[in-house]
Amino acid sequence: MVNQKGGCGKTTTAVNTSAALAEMGKRVLLIDLDPQAHATIGLGHDPNFFPRTVYDVLTNAHTRLSDVAVRTGIGRLDLAPCNVLLAGAELELASTQGKELLLARGLRDVREAYDLCVIDCPPALGVLTLNALVSSTDIIVPVQVHYYALEGLRRLLETVAIIRQRFHPCSMDNIGLLLTFVEERTTFSRQVQQQLREIFGDLVFDTVIHRNVRLAEAPSAGEPVLTYASQSKGAADYRALAAEILQTVPSTTEPAEERIRRGIQKQLSAIFQGVWIPKRQRRQKPVEPIRPQSIEST
Ligand SMILES: Nc1ncnc2c1ncn2[C@@H]1O[C@H](COP(=O)(O)OP(=O)(O)OP(=O)(O)O)[C@@H](O)[C@H]1O
Ligand SMILES: [Mg+2]
Repeated sequence: MVNQKGGCGKTTTAVNTSAALAEMGKRVLLIDLDPQAHATIGLGHDPNFFPRTVYDVLTNAHTRLSDVAVRTGIGRLDLAPCNVLLAGAELELASTQGKELLLARGLRDVREAYDLCVIDCPPALGVLTLNALVSSTDIIVPVQVHYYALEGLRRLLETVAIIRQRFHPCSMDNIGLLLTFVEERTTFSRQVQQQLREIFGDLVFDTVIHRNVRLAEAPSAGEPVLTYASQSKGAADYRALAAEILQTVPSTTEPAEERIRRGIQKQLSAIFQGVWIPKRQRRQKPVEPIRPQSIEST
């Protein structure tokens, strides 16, 4: 879950998608890669309690990811926690050779133990996020339905393109944009949603995450919304997202070149064939302008 923009729903998506995937029978490891430790807290753990965390995995070659992983209240969902010490990793690793590959190395250790690893990134494009991007096969970008969403997205997609050029082999194959804080009843939200779909086409997940107060409450109870408010709209949205992901995540036994591309899956290079630049899109097909006075209602 990556987006350098803060507060767009990365952690909420990481925690609840992981829980939904576990509920559907997958063995999941959620890796908290954000020094704010919100995923750790959101799953009911005290970040300061752990003698070893993801920080040690990145900074000490002798600490394995399996050494730091802990169980959560959700069956089949484990957590690799972190705490504020991880903030120091950015500086400490600055001069380390291969600093972007440390998490990828750590992940090899848990390959057999889990079906899926979900990584919650911090709101920055630093060493931590680079580690996540380099070691991921699929990236999900939560995009708050918001007028300024596109600028940050452009920078993120450019970073992704650079990583794919620079790191070989790079396993990153797919990208999916997830619209969050959606409010179907406001014209503004509908218009931004429509524009993003026009620009990015099938990169956008069919599933959207609606604004739902239960999603905001659940972390204070230290549990995912799936158990906190199982029948809520938020829980239903994240169950739908997990189902959509499982349709699109290729089986690990399929060789990469034979993977069937479905749903959100698309060659990343396709993103940069000009389709997503708003100006060009608007020239080809004018879209209804967004009325700023609608912003209040969001
Ligand atoms: N769909 C939603 N409806 C209502 N509240 C939400 C929703 N998604 C997230 N929130 C709340 O919005 C805030 C920001 O969400 P979250 O922490 O998931 O974003 P983030 O991208 O991880 O932020 P950061 O960049 O700081 O890590 C949190 O208080 C969260 O509980
Ligand atoms: Mg977060």
